[in-house]
Amino acid sequence: MNDEKKSISEGGTPTTRTMAMPSDTNSSGDVFGGWVLSQMDIAAGICAGQRAQGRVVTASIEAMRFYRPVRVGDILGVYTSVIRVGRSSMDILIEAWVRRDRIGDREKVTEATFTFVAVDADGKSVAIPPRDQLPQYVKDKFGEL
Ligand SMILES: CC(C)(COP(=O)(O)OP(=O)(O)OC[C@H]1O[C@@H](n2cnc3c(N)ncnc32)[C@H](O)[C@@H]1OP(=O)(O)O)[C@@H](O)C(=O)NCCC(=O)NCCS
Repeated sequence: MNDEKKSISEGGTPTTRTMAMPSDTNSSGDVFGGWVLSQMDIAAGICAGQRAQGRVVTASIEAMRFYRPVRVGDILGVYTSVIRVGRSSMDILIEAWVRRDRIGDREKVTEATFTFVAVDADGKSVAIPPRDQLPQYVKDKFGEL
């Protein structure tokens, strides 16, 4: 089910990479879903902030499904892509993949779409700059959006 559409991880560079540590686990030794969600929010925030060229806030998180567990010692790579740009809001598609125990198999563990809103210093929504006003490195990264 999770392999039906083309993955944004194909040929791409993850926005963030980190390793799950013992401190990220619950009392049973399993990595918290909330830790994975937090890593996804960090990566999506980087992506959204670059597209908005400024401050952004997470406005909503679409239903997430955890396909596979994350374990201590796994490398978690989070891939992001801007899939919609509105006036001040944008949708970021996020996929989280693990490399088991640093050197093992690669598996997709979860994906979701988060909506971010560009805001000013007072937290009020502001317009996202049009694509033609973006620095070249952002244009290269975000394609047509
Ligand atoms: C996100 C936030 C700035 C929107 O405030 P608002 O008064 O609704 O702002 P606006 O009416 O100007 O709407 C701004 C945009 O946000 C979108 N939006 C607002 N609430 C939304 C939601 N829950 N989900 C998705 N989009 C939302 C609107 O559709 C609009 O999009 P557009 O400009 O592209 O058309 C405000 O709700 C907020 O600050 N929320 C808290 C965010 C936060 O702190 N996140 C971290 C939690 S720890």
